Amino acid sequence: MTSLYITSVFVVLVLVSYNVQELKAQLQVGYYGASCGMAEYIVKDEVRNAFYRDPGLAAGLVRLHFHDCFVRGCDGSVLIDSTASNSAEKDSPANNPSLRGYEVIDNAKARLEAVCRGVVSCADIVAFAARDSVEMTGGLGYDVPAGRRDGRVSLASEASSSLPSPIDNLNQLTRSFANRGLTQEEMVTLSGAHTIGRSHCTSFSNRLYNYNTTSIQDPSIDSLYAQQLKQQCPQKSPDMANLVVPINPSSPAVADTDYYMDVLANRGLHNSDQALLSSPMTANQVAQNAMNPRLWGSKFAAAMVKMGQIGVLTGKAGEIRATCRVIN
Ligand code: HEM
Ligand SMILES: *[C@@H]1O[C@H](CO)[C@@H](O)[C@H](O)[C@H]1NC(C)=O
Repeated sequence: MTSLYITSVFVVLVLVSYNVQELKAQLQVGYYGASCGMAEYIVKDEVRNAFYRDPGLAAGLVRLHFHDCFVRGCDGSVLIDSTASNSAEKDSPANNPSLRGYEVIDNAKARLEAVCRGVVSCADIVAFAARDSVEMTGGLGYDVPAGRRDGRVSLASEASSSLPSPIDNLNQLTRSFANRGLTQEEMVTLSGAHTIGRSHCTSFSNRLYNYNTTSIQDPSIDSLYAQQLKQQCPQKSPDMANLVVPINPSSPAVADTDYYMDVLANRGLHNSDQALLSSPMTANQVAQNAMNPRLWGSKFAAAMVKMGQIGVLTGKAGEIRATCRVIN
């Protein structure tokens, strides 16, 4: 009886650990160790070159990974150029003209093809570059499980329908992340990426000039901040589509927790940023992150790793693209 019990516990334990192995075996830290030992170093070197040229590219590369992963999984589909017969993700209004950093990936890929041809996927390059960008802006570094393969499909229409919108409310944001296996808390944590980078006036001008039928301006914006934004984004400017502002004006090139300070002070830039204050649970997470940069840093690293596993292609699925912009 006892031995039957022990045997069955043993069997259950073996099955459980086998399952965990299976899940982890999909992507691996150090995946290119044997096949292309320089891979992560080369990507980091190119990200560093880009960063010294234009520090804003770090923000671009973090966003690139997010926009890759949320559309068809992290399969490098965001990098594919449109052709005469196909409008690709990068040409959806959700990505064009605001998404940046493509040339950094191209440069890394060219060097990688020269030293280990056909080995390193574009999707992995994007994941490494996002991590390096977090590190270079002062955030916490983390190991990136790799072994993703590149997808062969990229549709502008899918980018438009799959990416969350800056005018989304908390329920819509939560649902968008839940659809990809991410919790509401991970959504709050990942939104902290908005501590770096910029936004085009057109991504939030509705909050200043045509909010809804009862209120011209979003009543939730701090009035001084709204005044500043109106100066930076004049309604009648013929150049409105090209104007940009920092998302976290106090430290737009540093991966700190000032973004959460902004949100707490009703100075979240997009409706989707300010929406994090609209439930007691998420407002509490915003306050926790604001006060505890180390806690946020480690939660952010873990959430990036999790986001990086969304819908990945492994094994014989997909391909290793020779040029990130073109399907083989
Ligand atoms: C929660 C839902 C999210 C929405 C609605 C959203 C929306 C936006 C919008 C509208 C912009 C400005 C684009 C422009 O007009 O130039 C932006 C910028 C940015 N987003 Fe998000 N975002 C979200 C989540 C995320 C996540 C999860 C990440 C990464 C983990 C991220 C990283 C960034 C970065 C780094 C920028 C600055 C890009 C640059 O300077 O080029 N965002 N986001
Ligand atoms: C406009 O927005 C305000 C503030 O969010 C809200 O109280 C009001 O009900 C909204 N009006 C309409 C017509 O949606």
